[in-house]
Formats: sequence, C-alpha cells, structure tokens
Amino acid sequence: MLEGKKIVLGVCGSIAAYKSATLVRLLIKAGADVQVVMTKDATSFITPLTLSTLSKKPVLIQYFEPGTGQWNNHVELGLWADLFLIAPASANTMAKMAGGQCDNLLTAAYLSAKCPVYFAPAMDLDMWRHQATLSNVQKLQSYGNILIQPGSGELASGLHGEGRMAEPEEIVSFVTDQLSESLPLAGKRMLVTAGPTYEAIDPVRFIGNHSSGKMGFAIADELAKQGAVVTLIAGPSAQTLQQTGINRIDITSAAEMLEACLQHFDIADACIMSAAVADYTPINVSSQKIKKQSDTFGIDLKKTTDVLRVLGERKRHNQLLIGFALETQNEEQNAIDKLHKKNLDLIILNSLNDVGAGFKLDTNKITMIDRQLHKTIFETKRKSEVAADICHKIITLLK
Ligand code: CTP
Repeated sequence: MLEGKKIVLGVCGSIAAYKSATLVRLLIKAGADVQVVMTKDATSFITPLTLSTLSKKPVLIQYFEPGTGQWNNHVELGLWADLFLIAPASANTMAKMAGGQCDNLLTAAYLSAKCPVYFAPAMDLDMWRHQATLSNVQKLQSYGNILIQPGSGELASGLHGEGRMAEPEEIVSFVTDQLSESLPLAGKRMLVTAGPTYEAIDPVRFIGNHSSGKMGFAIADELAKQGAVVTLIAGPSAQTLQQTGINRIDITSAAEMLEACLQHFDIADACIMSAAVADYTPINVSSQKIKKQSDTFGIDLKKTTDVLRVLGERKRHNQLLIGFALETQNEEQNAIDKLHKKNLDLIILNSLNDVGAGFKLDTNKITMIDRQLHKTIFETKRKSEVAADICHKIITLLK
C-alpha cells in the first residue's frame, strides 16, 4: 500500500521523537519515499543525521539552508507529498496547524499540502486533556486531517494516562488500512488468469502458444494497486508481479487452469480471463520421449474444456466475467459472438492486424465491448495503461 508513496514525515519537539527513527525505517521498508521535515525543537530530541541516514535524504528544518542559503520551497514540498504524516505532533504544532500559523517549514508545508494529512499527537496527560488541545484536535479533524489516537500508559513525565504517541508499527498499519479502505476496489476479490498453457505431448515436448503473460500480470498488478484482493492463475511465464500480496498460482495445462479457476471463482467479485488457454490437447501423452521414425507424424488432439464458458454458466448475478478475444479477421463480430456464447459482461478485443498489439509486446491496442454492445476503441498504449483502462471499466461495472 505504501510502495512508491511520497510521504512527508513531520517530526515535532517531543520526547516521542526518538520513535521517529523506527517509523522512518518501517516506511522505507514498506517502499515509501520519505522526506523528513523537523521543527527546530525536534532536533534536540533526535539528530537530523539519524533521520537523514534512515530516510536516505537530507532532513529539512528551515526555510533557508544554513551555509548554502538554499531555499526549501514549502509549497513544492506540500504538493510533492502523496501523504503528510506528523508524528509526533506536539501540542504547539497542532495549535499552529489549527490556527493556520506557519512560522516554520513544517507548518508552512502543511498549509500547502493537498494530500491526506495524518497526525499522531504525543504529549503529557494534562496537556493532552486541556480544553485548548482538545479543541485544536477537533478543529484539525474538521479540516479533514486524520487523528492517530495516542495510547495510554506511563508517560515520560512519570504520569500515567493518555498522551503517549501510538507505536510506529501501529501508525504504519493505521495509515495502510486507511489507504486501502479508501481505494475503489477495497474489499473486492478478483480472479485473473494470464499466460499460455502447455499441453504435454511427451516428457520433452508440448503444444503451447506465444502468450507472454504481460497483459494479465499488468491487470493483476493494477487491480491490487486499486485495493483488490487478487488471485492470479498463471500459465508458464517469465513475468514477475510488481505488487506484493497477490496470491499467484502457477499452472501448466488447460486442465490445471480449469481446476484452479473452479476453486477460486465462486468467491470472486470479478474474473478477468486473459490467459491464452489451449483449445486442443493431445489425447494420449507418451510417457517416454517419442523417437523420430517416419517422415510425417500426427498427434490426435481433443478439445479442452472452455474455462470461460464454464465460468459463464456458473456466474452469479453479482459477479463480473470478462474475457479476451484475439482475432485476425471479422474481429468485432467474433468478439460479440464470444461475449454472448460465454455469458460475459465485457470482452476485450485484440486484433493481430493492429500495429502495437499482440504477443510479447509491451503495448496493446484494445476495443472493449460490453453486454449492451457499447464499444470503446482505445489507442495503442503501454500494457500497464491498458490494465488501468480495464480496471477503470471494472470499477464502473461493479458500481
Ligand atoms: N478461453 C478459455 N478456455 C479455453 C479457451 C479460451 O477460458 N479453452 C478463454 C480465453 O482466456 C479468452 C476467451 O476464452 O478469455 C477467448 O479465447 P479465444 O482463444 O480468443 O477464443 P476461443 O473461444 O478459444 O475461440 P477461437 O479460438 O475459436 O477463436
């Protein structure tokens, strides 16, 4: 969820600032790009050197860098951030944020931020329950900022009670959960198939096809990025997933593809069948390597089960089923026939006649046709962008 996210981490003057080191480490480990901004007082509690080493970036403290006089642009900083996290948030900084004061880089960047802002207060019990602090917290929440509730326990002052900053692990999981819940496919289960299938002839040979799996892997990644719980059933493919947390099941043959799909289809909200499943498989598979003898050689084949058609027969009214059609002639009519025959909600048509579409390429050119026969023709795009278009359509259809 935090992979590639640009995070401004504001650190204020509080003893809890020592926990910022762990927080930076966890955010970096989760793949985030972290820019630490400290108030001057925070530097008395933890050194900028520690946080810059862990975040792999110089820490910003003042509007103007001492020595070079370089200006740290608070507006750019605020706009750069995908997420603004202030932890620890001191009573003083919260008061400034609530009142719109910006006498330091951190509060000025906060005023410029357009992204979600999270704040994790840390202070002594009496300060925390003071009416002024409570009303500042309320004000901040009314601006849309998200409070990460402080915990209870022994405080640095020796008092016991509320005011202790949430632990770094709690902060990271809070932010992660919030982000995933806010994504359009949060809580949705997606089943994606990708790649070719291989049908064995003997222990050495198989019947396969040129599918690389690139399109299906890109779709699985994009759906996961949008918050879905994704299962990817992949035929033999050299592709790797970019997103973590995708349940990847590797299969080889059409029969294994069918079995895996049947296992996972019922709980899926949508299934995107981009795999190039073999249509025929050898009737007999030789247990020994077939030796070369006659000048000609034939293999008897039988039809495989059409996985998509089977899923179309099982489909519930609230499930989406999306198929692909790769055509070389009569493209649109063939795609529409498949849409009906297999009881699909959407078919993605590729034509091998289009430049930039086809196997092993990083680009694709698609036409989407839905049940109402609405047709959308897309330009040639990178497969990751095509995946985003498909994902966008799925979000619309699920609504
Ligand atoms: N498909 C499938 N099981 C098969 C064959 C195809 O699930 N045994 C799925 C593909 O994953 C794709 C869609 O059906 O989503 C269309 O595949 P395609 O090969 O274009 O069409 P076929 O139905 O096999 O028809 P034909 O090969 O005659 O064009």
